[in-house]
Amino acid sequence: MDISWKESYSVGITKIDEQHKKLFELLNELKDAQENEKDYGFISKTISELFDYSVYHFKIEEDLLKEINYPHLNEHIEEHEYFRRQVSELQKMSNERKLILNVKLVIFLKEWIFTHILASDKDFGRFLKTIEK
Ligand SMILES: [Fe+2]
Repeated sequence: MDISWKESYSVGITKIDEQHKKLFELLNELKDAQENEKDYGFISKTISELFDYSVYHFKIEEDLLKEINYPHLNEHIEEHEYFRRQVSELQKMSNERKLILNVKLVIFLKEWIFTHILASDKDFGRFLKTIEK
């Protein structure tokens, strides 16, 4: 499974791209943990980091989208909300030591992040370009 950030994933905003790269790093850590059967403490820590970083990153994006009056702001927030809820649930399960990190879960997280960046985040990147002209 290839989880590497590529130039074609750029949304055209350096700060946001850098944060997306950090999300990819965390995904890679989870993939590595799953493939190499890392200990529970490591998995728990990475899930917590993914949750905290997603909350931090989504807030920055949402503030930016409000600032530029992005027309699809609410839908975008809803997408973030879905992911925040999912990862918060994983964190809860991991705290209760009930989380099973299998390949399906890694694929789910990867697919969501990839799809969100390539469709929704790129869309606001394009919108920003049109108003900058
Ligand atoms: Fe986003």
